[in-house]
Amino acid sequence: MTDLTSDTGASRLGGADLFNLELIRKYDKAGPRYTSYPTAPMFHEGVGADEYARTLARVADDPAPLSLYVHIPFCNTVCYYCGCNKIVTRQYERAIPYLDLLCQEIDLVADTMGYHEQHQGRKVTQLHFGGGTPTFLNDDQIRMLMHKLKQRFNFAPDDEGEFSIEIDPRECNEQTVAVLREVGFNRMSMGVQDFDPIVQKAVNRIQSREETLRVLNEAREQGFQSINIDLMYGLPHQTVETFDRTLDIIIDFSPDRIALFNYAHLPHMFMPQRRIDEGDLPSAQEKLNILEHSINKLLEAGYVFIGMDHFAKPDDELTIAQQQGKLYRNFQGYSTMADCDLIGLGVTSIGYVGGAFFQNQKDMAAYTEAVEAGNFPVFRGYVLSAEDHLRRHVIMRLMCDFALDFGWFEQRFDISFREHFADALQDLEEFAADGLVELQDDALRVLPAGRLLIRNIAMAFDEYLRKKKAESSFSKVI
Ligand SMILES: C[S@@+](CC[C@H](N)C(=O)[O-])C[C@H]1O[C@@H](n2cnc3c(N)ncnc32)[C@H](O)[C@@H]1O
Ligand code: SF4
Repeated sequence: MTDLTSDTGASRLGGADLFNLELIRKYDKAGPRYTSYPTAPMFHEGVGADEYARTLARVADDPAPLSLYVHIPFCNTVCYYCGCNKIVTRQYERAIPYLDLLCQEIDLVADTMGYHEQHQGRKVTQLHFGGGTPTFLNDDQIRMLMHKLKQRFNFAPDDEGEFSIEIDPRECNEQTVAVLREVGFNRMSMGVQDFDPIVQKAVNRIQSREETLRVLNEAREQGFQSINIDLMYGLPHQTVETFDRTLDIIIDFSPDRIALFNYAHLPHMFMPQRRIDEGDLPSAQEKLNILEHSINKLLEAGYVFIGMDHFAKPDDELTIAQQQGKLYRNFQGYSTMADCDLIGLGVTSIGYVGGAFFQNQKDMAAYTEAVEAGNFPVFRGYVLSAEDHLRRHVIMRLMCDFALDFGWFEQRFDISFREHFADALQDLEEFAADGLVELQDDALRVLPAGRLLIRNIAMAFDEYLRKKKAESSFSKVI
């Protein structure tokens, strides 16, 4: 088989290799982010709680490790740009009944898998608390929830597992950081977006450099292994000059990872975005200028472009995993943990268990009603076919390795790659002619100019997009 790992290291690339304005303009069209394949719009209500219960019981004693995702939906204030699944409230007491429901759901899952004190089953090597704002919970509530999880599941020691949490520095002090480390978290992702006061005011997220730095320093002090900072371009009033100042501050902080998200403005889907004056948004050209400038600056500062909005330091585990061909992708983005079953807990959570996706109720009342009745709150899902599994792997390897080794797929899936994907490879000939990919007899390599357009390349292998089913609901690629 072809060795594709040796030249996937993007560390040698400069911004000019990655950013080709003409090609970005030509190929920039609506597309999924492929945190799952098939993507969420394909989920349907034919897959529900019964199927979930059967699947959990079936995989309970598989030898592979487990991953857990816990969704805490609450936020104290609303950021107008936000497209996350959240409930905005200042009533901190709302966390109390929610925690109770989460504990009931944890018990239901663990009981269904036959786990008990003497047999806690599969090792949990990955945990992610997302939101919303997980630190909406107070320190005791965080301790209690982690205690519950560790009581019902078999957690790997925290020098072995990847245990991460999303932090809003406005909703977290040094003491909470210490508590997070004490209960086992060892990775952290912090929301920043932009430090410019005019931008912050326009999106209703006032967050100082000092409070962000305080949390970051405390996380380092406490020994968090990898710290990520989220930034966003395309927000109101942003210009290359204003965003440059934010980048200077962030580069000075020197986080292990930086996520640079493209603001997805979809006010018909996300109500708070209607409070953003569209006249204040940067033009398409200014957005591209900000992106180009940011890429140049981050690469010059020594970061490596991992793919799909993510940058990491050369010695970060994500960069190393990518160089070794051991990078994976799941609902939380890139990960170094092998593709494994993921149990989603909490309102709106999505899990991937036994080759199927399962999503919990998005509405708190419906979630509450199901859990209180002792039922799984799953309302839709998707059971992957053999063809879906094959394509899921193709898209995963493409997004993680920027390359496909046809021989590997032929051995693993018993296909002739060129015959099976003849239509996709034909579509990619135009990409090859434009210098985005290189098509070899036994491999496909994404060239530097194709890396920013990896979603568009992956779309060629998406059977459902080919059938024109889901296209209209996705955000723009760049
Ligand atoms: C759940 S939030 C982060 C955790 C925490 N609530 C906070 O705001 O700090 C996850 C990230 O999604 C990104 N995000 C939210 N809305 C977005 C949008 N409309 N377009 C692109 N990225 C978005 C932001 O970068 C945000 O930090
Ligand atoms: S960005 Fe974070 S804090 Fe702001 S509304 Fe969204 S989830 Fe809540």
